[in-house]
Amino acid sequence: MGQEKEIMGAEPFKIKMVEPIRLIPRVERVKRMEEAYFNVFRLKPDDVYIDLLTDSGTSAMSDYQWAGLMMGDESYAGSRNFYHLEQVVQDLMGFRYVIPTHQGRPAENILFSALIQPGQMVPGNAHFDTTAAHIRHKKGIPVNLPIPEALRTGEFHPFKGNVNIGELEALLNQEGKNIPFFLMTITNNTGGGQPVSMENIRKAREITSKYRIPLYFDAARFAENAYFIKEREEGYRDRSIKAIVKEMMSHGDGCVMSAKKDGLVNMGGFICTNDEGVYQRCGELLILMEGFLTYGGLSGRDLEVMARGLEEVVSEDYLTYRIRQVRYLGERLMDAGIPIIHPTGGHAVYIDGRAFLPHIPQSQFPAQVTSVELYMEAGVRSLEIGTVAFARKDEKTGETIYPPLDLTRLAIPRRVYTDRHMDVVAEGVIRISKRKESIRGLKINWEPKVLRHFLAKFSRV
Ligand code: F0G
Repeated sequence: MGQEKEIMGAEPFKIKMVEPIRLIPRVERVKRMEEAYFNVFRLKPDDVYIDLLTDSGTSAMSDYQWAGLMMGDESYAGSRNFYHLEQVVQDLMGFRYVIPTHQGRPAENILFSALIQPGQMVPGNAHFDTTAAHIRHKKGIPVNLPIPEALRTGEFHPFKGNVNIGELEALLNQEGKNIPFFLMTITNNTGGGQPVSMENIRKAREITSKYRIPLYFDAARFAENAYFIKEREEGYRDRSIKAIVKEMMSHGDGCVMSAKKDGLVNMGGFICTNDEGVYQRCGELLILMEGFLTYGGLSGRDLEVMARGLEEVVSEDYLTYRIRQVRYLGERLMDAGIPIIHPTGGHAVYIDGRAFLPHIPQSQFPAQVTSVELYMEAGVRSLEIGTVAFARKDEKTGETIYPPLDLTRLAIPRRVYTDRHMDVVAEGVIRISKRKESIRGLKINWEPKVLRHFLAKFSRV
């Protein structure tokens, strides 16, 4: 008695409002997919049953956040909601300056415009696609330095998001003068939503300081990262999530943030920095591109719900529910022998496309095919994060450089779906698996010049 464990595990919320969803008949799903040129971005959400395209901007807000909407101060300059946001971010992350933006991309655009000179290299553990695109847009060169375990999808490693410290040191030693900053993405979206350990952050900080290179975080999923540190890293079990977040951030000079993830909002973001000069340069660009320093492309009410979302996301009850649900879907798939990135990460389950459909060559986009089939099978929308998103033509030889992983991401919106929805998703994947030999590859008939996955048009091979 007294020592018994509490009964735990159910959602730490009850549902106050519902949004109907519907599974349209299979013949219609097949038709809709063909009309969408086999690109899930072109589907209409009304034709989607369970939407796991992204965890970005798709969270359900709490009653506390909805109430905050009514507290919007829409003053052009000096909105009180900005000061609330600033105080929450400073309290949570400890950075001196906070600059609001309307999402992650403008934060990247502005910070990178302020920091990157043409020809400079920007190393990171795993740049996201828009991040890499923004580095290239400033004529910089994105360099990813993952640890080798990150590429072995079936193998357990507690912190597959870690940066390869040896390679980082070698690069800084060689190119140090040509590197404006190092970017640590927590968690690493491109490699499975995998966390970075505190030890790895600390070591990256030591090395970058030695070469006087600032360290910035891409903090989109900072709270999920902190949860994994608490769960898996020696010495953090009894620390609060807030304390872990503060410690992580204490090793950085600032961050870019897409609050559409761990800000629990549908739109929002910010830049943080401790450097007054960087703050001033970013502020000037903000006014040019997003608006005044106290609103950055958002209304006062949006700033308020972002502040409130950031207060909520560090709740341990919430994070326990969140990570457990992702793990639940992963376990259902693994039990059925579906090849996924193991262990599951913070925000999504990633199917290894090439292992799942081994008869389809990478040039015919097995992960994209999986995503297309899953919609037709179960009305579930997922996203390819692989060859379509990342393959590039070598500028000199014209040859295609394939990314090491070809993944279908099942990203789980925060506080939106139940485990029963996850069962349907798993069942859909399992059914595809049973008839996979008959599934054919895809080819691209048209693509835009940058970020082609959003708009490319495909047909069956
Ligand atoms: N950084 C990371 C790690 C991201 O995952 C994203 C967006 C961004 C930056 C850009 O932020 O969308 O607010 O402009 N990821 C979304 C996704 C789009 O589906 O993973 P944004």
